[in-house]
Amino acid sequence: MRGRMSDAKSYAKHVELGEVMTGQTVGEVVESRDAAFKPGDKVLTSLGWQLMGVAKASEIHKVDASRVPASYYLGILGMPGLTAWFGLHEIGQPKAGDVLVVSAASGAVGSVVGQLGKIAGCRVVGIAGGKAKCDYVLNELGFDAVVDYKAGKFDEDLRAAVPKGVDIYFDNVGGPILDSMLGRMRVFSRIVVCGLISEYNATEPYGYKRLRSVLVNRIKMQGMIVFDWQARYGEGIKGLATHLAAGKLKYRESVVEGIDNAPKAFIGLLKGENFGKQLVKF
Ligand SMILES: NC(=O)c1ccc[n+]([C@@H]2O[C@H](COP(=O)([O-])OP(=O)(O)OC[C@H]3O[C@@H](n4cnc5c(N)ncnc54)[C@H](OP(=O)(O)O)[C@@H]3O)[C@@H](O)[C@H]2O)c1
Repeated sequence: MRGRMSDAKSYAKHVELGEVMTGQTVGEVVESRDAAFKPGDKVLTSLGWQLMGVAKASEIHKVDASRVPASYYLGILGMPGLTAWFGLHEIGQPKAGDVLVVSAASGAVGSVVGQLGKIAGCRVVGIAGGKAKCDYVLNELGFDAVVDYKAGKFDEDLRAAVPKGVDIYFDNVGGPILDSMLGRMRVFSRIVVCGLISEYNATEPYGYKRLRSVLVNRIKMQGMIVFDWQARYGEGIKGLATHLAAGKLKYRESVVEGIDNAPKAFIGLLKGENFGKQLVKF
């Protein structure tokens, strides 16, 4: 979304001034001219930041809100969960015994990545900002270790958490954390470049210093955009739902009330004020 508020070339079209901000919503059908949908049906839409909208039947998807809240289809059973599923499994390629590090570890994508890593038999280390988030990652999500990047001695704490190096780094943040991680990667390790949140508001790109590690350690570093797996979303949702139903995936939401508060919540997310998947209820 932050990328769409800029003219810079990206994988998604930018939003023009005055246009409705893009974004997925879950909501209820109020009126329908298509037999496949009736009033009251819960649906996933791409109608953006607005209270009501009109969509073609082919542009909305029914969701089953009988077993999980409909909001889960915006998080753990939606785009962020699928990002974690395909990014970790297809690009990270975890094996039992691998050391996996994930940044923004308490967030919508990161929390799922780490838990899927545990299911795959990895030793999982999270990176998060502040004690409350770190306690959650360690004690609630069951990661093996966590590093608080706001504690003032990140490189030292990271080294202590992964003394023998890292096989997979799932990067949600970029910037100085990615640079430090480059220095901790093992030979033939993988880096999943999923997000660069530390750079989204920056006026200058971050100057990376440790690219040499990619060469020396033969690191496979690949960008991932969840839409590339669209044809396989069903497989991902089935996998995530199975683990969720088995109690193997924990999930947390951060809900702000009122569409007028959406911009404030969004700006807060870019500063880490959310704790879990950021949602706006209206
Ligand atoms: N490639 C794709 O297809 C795809 C799809 C979905 C999301 N993403 C990306 O995945 C990342 C996570 O998205 P999400 O929706 O799951 O958000 P999220 O992790 O729930 O929330 C964002 C978190 O980023 C952390 N953060 C913010 N500024 C930071 C900084 N300067 N340095 C380090 N961490 C910072 C904050 O956690 P702390 O308080 O712990 O710092 C914040 O809570 C984002 O970069 C997003 O763009 C990519």
